[in-house]
Amino acid sequence: MSADILIKIDNLKKTFQGGLEALKGVNLEIQRGEILALLGPNGAGKTTLINAICGIVLPTSGTISVDGYDVVKDFRKTRSMIGLVPQELHLEAFEKVFQNVSYTRGLYGKKKDPAYIEKILKDLSLWDKKDSKLRELSGGMKKRALIAKALSHEPKILFLDEPTAGVDINLRRDMWRAVKELKENGVTIILTTHYIEEAEAISDRVSVINNGEIIITDNKNDLMRKMGQKNLTIEFQEPFSQIPSTLESYNLKMNNNNSLTYSYDSHGSSTGITALLQDIKSAGLKLKDLNSSQTSLETIFEKLLEESV
Ligand SMILES: Nc1ncnc2c1ncn2[C@@H]1O[C@H](COP(=O)(O)OP(=O)(O)O)[C@@H](O)[C@H]1O
Ligand SMILES: [Mg+2]
Repeated sequence: MSADILIKIDNLKKTFQGGLEALKGVNLEIQRGEILALLGPNGAGKTTLINAICGIVLPTSGTISVDGYDVVKDFRKTRSMIGLVPQELHLEAFEKVFQNVSYTRGLYGKKKDPAYIEKILKDLSLWDKKDSKLRELSGGMKKRALIAKALSHEPKILFLDEPTAGVDINLRRDMWRAVKELKENGVTIILTTHYIEEAEAISDRVSVINNGEIIITDNKNDLMRKMGQKNLTIEFQEPFSQIPSTLESYNLKMNNNNSLTYSYDSHGSSTGITALLQDIKSAGLKLKDLNSSQTSLETIFEKLLEESV
């Protein structure tokens, strides 16, 4: 890969006091200017990984460099390049939006720049709230205020730890738009999520992390093709003892004597559902109910793990 690597993580391990291995040898290269999604279930190690890059969690072993600087040895240098929107909301409730964002910029030793603060507040649709107290903001606005704070010192890299957890779908879309605009302004963005849909909507590349290990890193479209399996559960009016031979060519699993699950690729050109339903009819089986669901993240992990062995 000849791309311009901005962050390089080599064999990163983190064992917390008490012995929990949160990261078990992570290798990852993040390209300048991309949006990378770290996708994984709760407890996978996403926050630990982000915090290690930001210099908040000290690695047990391994190295991380940001633009050629080591995050432990050159902490001040690397931290100044990074903005972090943490997973937990903790805001200074009684401060006003503009003041607070401006103040945060000062913490990084940057000169006051009201025009820049105005720009980020406008970009994040928070300008009309500039004189509101932080505690008066809605949940989604608080998230955006956290992003404004993280951007206050003009970082080149922005980390967003579960930016849309608990945020409603409209605000989620606003957030995605704001993130894409930041990318257009040259900011490299790393976000964590446990929503497949979010990784799909927003990122250029996706790293799937589970149990302290990165299972796969791939560009989004290729990965989504691998992960785009959906299940259609088909319930029948009458029980039967086995899958009729005319349906053998389909990827079917019997759940019990009156229900089958059909797995199909939701990103493929044809799902095969129409043909399957016709063949079911020809086999003389009568439908009771149909139910489609996205493959769970857990199932996808199992599948990816099987493939990577
Ligand atoms: N400070 C800590 N001390 C001990 N264990 C921790 C600490 N922080 C996180 N962990 C554990 O490390 C694992 C990974 O946590 P985390 O990185 O927060 O996962 P994620 O962000 O993917 O949900 C979890 O099992 C968690 O309980
Ligand atoms: Mg987390």
